[in-house]
Amino acid sequence: MATIRGKPVALVTGGGSGIGRATAVRFAELGYSCVVADIDEPSAKETLRMLQTPGIAVQVDVTMATSVEAMVTTAVQHFGRIDCAFNCAGVVTKNATIVDTPEDEFDRVMGVNAKGVWLCLKYEIAQMLQQEPVMSDPAKWVDKPDVCRFRGVRGSIVNASSITGLGPAPGINASYCASKAAILGLTQTAAVEYAKEGIRVNAVCPAVTATPMLDRVLEKAPPGTEENLVSKHPVGRFAAPEEVAEAVCWLCSDACPFTTGEHLKIAGGL
Ligand SMILES: NC(=O)c1ccc[n+]([C@@H]2O[C@H](COP(=O)([O-])OP(=O)(O)OC[C@H]3O[C@@H](n4cnc5c(N)ncnc54)[C@H](O)[C@@H]3O)[C@@H](O)[C@H]2O)c1
Repeated sequence: MATIRGKPVALVTGGGSGIGRATAVRFAELGYSCVVADIDEPSAKETLRMLQTPGIAVQVDVTMATSVEAMVTTAVQHFGRIDCAFNCAGVVTKNATIVDTPEDEFDRVMGVNAKGVWLCLKYEIAQMLQQEPVMSDPAKWVDKPDVCRFRGVRGSIVNASSITGLGPAPGINASYCASKAAILGLTQTAAVEYAKEGIRVNAVCPAVTATPMLDRVLEKAPPGTEENLVSKHPVGRFAAPEEVAEAVCWLCSDACPFTTGEHLKIAGGL
């Protein structure tokens, strides 16, 4: 039997910077308690200071099972459950062809972006399966008993893929594209595996977003790269991290209980 939701709890990996930070801030504005997790603990603590709601900063390396398990344990020790998770930690690598990319760089990118999301799903879902399903607004469903019966939600997860996971992205390293495509496969499979348990799993596919990651890429890129990238977006600009955050919070929320295994492009028409 589903219980009624109290203050919901959101966990964000990669919460110390860029899209992850903006999403933690938005979750807090919406009233969630937040677990801000990042390999860079000082940056996670900096994000925490921006939040108006209860929260904790956790150091995590998403490539290590023991570290991800400890992150989930710490979150549950503090807040009792995890209602939403945004798996956003990620790395990019310099543009190079497959022939010119060293093997260890492929392993690093796949390790953080693909294996990292798999490990987060593994431990977040294991926790969510132990949680009582909750209903956010039972009054809304009272005249729909069948829907109501199945409406208890144990948790909702969003993974940070990318527009580069959806198709060829000339000039972007194949290891990054492959890692983001892998995230879509993980998302769809997890969604199907746990749909009947009341756990939704979706992904976002942003186009180029103005974050510290982009700054680092542009620093090393040849002149004209920024203008060239902007021109590829029909809206004529990059995304702001807050625009991605809004979509993530919507996908995590009770506004879309029938949406799972989906990916949402946030790509300015691209
Ligand atoms: N910026 C873009 O244009 C863009 C576009 C599409 C998708 N994305 C994806 O969105 C996510 C966030 O990107 P961003 O632009 O905000 O990047 P960012 O570099 O600003 O933030 C990424 C965060 O992940 C953390 N991180 C890196 N490795 C980690 C690890 N092993 N364990 C835990 N944390 C780790 C970093 O410390 C950093 O705080 C990434 O997955 C990225 O691939 C970014």
